[in-house]
Amino acid sequence: MTTDNSTSTSTYTYESDGPAAVAVIGLGQMGTRLAQAFLAAGYRTTVWNRTAAKADALVVQGAVRAASAAEAIEAADLVVVCLPDYGTVGDVLRPASAAGAAGGLRGKVLVNLTSGTPEEAREMAGLASGLGAAYLDGAAMSGTRLVGRPEALFVLSGSADAFAAHREVLGALGDSVHLGADPALAAVYDTALFGLAWGALAGFHHAVALAGAAGVEPTEFAAVAAGHMPFVTSLMTEHARQLADGRFPDDDGTVDVHAAAMEHLVLASRAEGVGAELPELVKSLLERASADGYGAAGIASVARVLREGARHA
Ligand SMILES: NC(=O)c1ccc[n+]([C@@H]2O[C@H](COP(=O)([O-])OP(=O)(O)OC[C@H]3O[C@@H](n4cnc5c(N)ncnc54)[C@H](OP(=O)(O)O)[C@@H]3O)[C@@H](O)[C@H]2O)c1
Repeated sequence: MTTDNSTSTSTYTYESDGPAAVAVIGLGQMGTRLAQAFLAAGYRTTVWNRTAAKADALVVQGAVRAASAAEAIEAADLVVVCLPDYGTVGDVLRPASAAGAAGGLRGKVLVNLTSGTPEEAREMAGLASGLGAAYLDGAAMSGTRLVGRPEALFVLSGSADAFAAHREVLGALGDSVHLGADPALAAVYDTALFGLAWGALAGFHHAVALAGAAGVEPTEFAAVAAGHMPFVTSLMTEHARQLADGRFPDDDGTVDVHAAAMEHLVLASRAEGVGAELPELVKSLLERASADGYGAAGIASVARVLREGARHA
């Protein structure tokens, strides 16, 4: 048995006998895939959704339909919620936990896979603690299609004991990673990785438009672009090391050299009638780094400039 000490009023304890029973509350696009992944892994899965008909297909696949959120909570050790926002999660869990004949969430593990901000995650950890549950905040990072496959990344943070106790069942969702005891960390990674993915995708969308203007088919371009990505990810590792060291060697070109090259991309885009917003944005970041004295430094210095800018804003 493991006792969780991460929250002051939580009474969560974990008995290791028998497989965990799971509840999924919220059967939208994501919640449905979560429930399917638990079912596919052989876990007894109880489901509840405001619109009951959305559980029909899952029941055919082996899920148990709960008549209320309170009934779903009662049926499970691990309660997974996936609703549009944290306000809705609170609105559903407060009365459901109070109405539960067996004590609602008391002694259970609440896993919240609803998207939100770090501040909302901390507030939800407080609510869970008040209801006597151990809390894991989390985020699904790989859309719905990959859920249940090993490459589907789920980031989780909060109670380390709860994660250790339910690591296997959470592994049914994909690559479930515990980031640390601070419940806000999952939302920090969620928002940061969302920005990273969009930066990469926006770059791709611009690139495929520019190549398309020259007659290159999107699929043809994507094949070459995908082969280029290992170099880009290797730069992330290298730049992270440089940021940790506080030194920005110019091995991959200086900030000023990249700013000049980015101007070529702006001009080439305009010449083809392709939107130049993205290269203009990157050029402005490089120029800001140069104005801050990093013109002759390596391009990882842009991250430091952004960080310092945020600190002094
Ligand atoms: N879909 C994705 O690819 C994806 C990826 C990563 C993260 N997420 C996150 O996962 C969460 C859910 O997304 P989703 O795509 O599954 O949303 P969705 O398809 O719109 O489903 C929303 C779910 O919330 C329920 N709901 C809405 N308002 C409610 C209320 N007041 N009381 C009770 N239930 C309520 C809906 O029930 P009804 O059926 O009754 O309307 C439905 O089950 C969001 O925070 C989203 O950001 C989604």
